[in-house]
Amino acid sequence: MPIIRFVREERDVECQSGENLREVALREGMQLYGLKGQLGNCGGCGQCITCFVAIEGEKSPGALSPRTAVEEAKLKRRPDHWRLACQTLVNSSVIVLTRPQVSLVNGKARLEEARGQQLS
Ligand code: FES
Repeated sequence: MPIIRFVREERDVECQSGENLREVALREGMQLYGLKGQLGNCGGCGQCITCFVAIEGEKSPGALSPRTAVEEAKLKRRPDHWRLACQTLVNSSVIVLTRPQVSLVNGKARLEEARGQQLS
């Protein structure tokens, strides 16, 4: 089973292959949304552009489903490794930073540590 390593939350979570990243994050109690998304979001339809995550590592190429047409349109001015969680399916283990637009205390060190631990 894939592992999603949530760096900000310092948690590894198992999911089924092909599960939706937003659904896993919410099921596991992760705060996926910044303030705007907490006040209102589209519920996973790819319209509100508030469920950003940064993909900080993956076990193998193709660990996630390819960017959807919605993401290609909505993420044009965002870093290449950002995804919309609601549009992303998890095929194998990945390292994810939720709310990448919000600073992460000791971010560089925490990302290095997350990447340094083996993903099963
Ligand atoms: S939840 Fe609205 S774009 Fe992902």
